[in-house]
Amino acid sequence: MSQVLPLPIVAGRSFRDRYGPWALVAGASEGLGAAYADALARRGLHLLLIARRTEPLEALAASLRAAHGVEVRTVALDLAADDVGARMAALAEEHAIGVAVYNAAYAPVGAFLDRSMSELQRAVDVNVRGPLACVHALAPPMVARGRGGLVLMSSLAGFQGSPRIATYAATKAFNTILGESLWGELGARGVDVLVCSAGAIRTPNYTRAAGAEAPGTMEASAVAEQALHALGRGPLVVPGFINRLGGMLLGRLLPRRVAVRIMAKNTQDLS
Ligand SMILES: NC(=O)c1ccc[n+]([C@@H]2O[C@H](COP(=O)([O-])OP(=O)(O)OC[C@H]3O[C@@H](n4cnc5c(N)ncnc54)[C@H](OP(=O)(O)O)[C@@H]3O)[C@@H](O)[C@H]2O)c1
Repeated sequence: MSQVLPLPIVAGRSFRDRYGPWALVAGASEGLGAAYADALARRGLHLLLIARRTEPLEALAASLRAAHGVEVRTVALDLAADDVGARMAALAEEHAIGVAVYNAAYAPVGAFLDRSMSELQRAVDVNVRGPLACVHALAPPMVARGRGGLVLMSSLAGFQGSPRIATYAATKAFNTILGESLWGELGARGVDVLVCSAGAIRTPNYTRAAGAEAPGTMEASAVAEQALHALGRGPLVVPGFINRLGGMLLGRLLPRRVAVRIMAKNTQDLS
């Protein structure tokens, strides 16, 4: 009698062939990053997990090894560090990294003039210089192999001006344009680049910052699944129907002044 394989295993094999054997998740210790790690392990990829805190990273690594039988290595690293590009290049020399997700972000919340320059600079370091250095270090071996995938986490906040999270929103706009541009450049060389512009996600960071949940708030696992499914299918994914609708309205259909005012209402209770 022929055995019917569950869909994730079938789908996992082709994903692993295209993007294996190693996956890197930058910002992996909790929330969406941990969900990406789980989704990639379920597809049979070995994992390099990066974050600053070793304890949650090690706990996640142990549970993924036990659940999926993949190799998992952890790297304690502040992605704002000056040498992040060199650290990534060293990891890529030691492991055939076929897919990388830059998930980490820092979001200084509050009136722009109330935030110190060092906080704003840190957002630029983690959210802009980090992904730039990672992509610059990790893409060349992928191009040399003629296959690979890069996922940059962005946000609907980066589709229009977003008062009270101005610097964060601007860094996310940077990721959106960088990722779409590289989709156009690297696709012809075998490397799929995807921007995932998410709406609200139920992560520890979001739950801490938000007063009440925004409409369309999604589970991290659903966002990770939709992003990995979209990799290789186009330059940008907005997970969730309500978020796609919101993104279309705010980013494309409404006058910019209206979009910015609506966004200001959404961010007024963030802390
Ligand atoms: N949550 C939302 O509602 C939402 C909405 C739209 C877009 N997004 C995007 O989705 C991504 C994940 O969102 P999230 O904020 O909710 O975070 P998250 O996935 O819950 O966690 C952030 C992860 O990044 C790590 N990290 C943060 N700063 C780091 C640094 N400097 N160096 C190394 N690792 C670092 C954290 O671990 P350590 O603390 O151990 O370092 C943690 O593992 C972000 O890019 C965000 O912009 C989120």
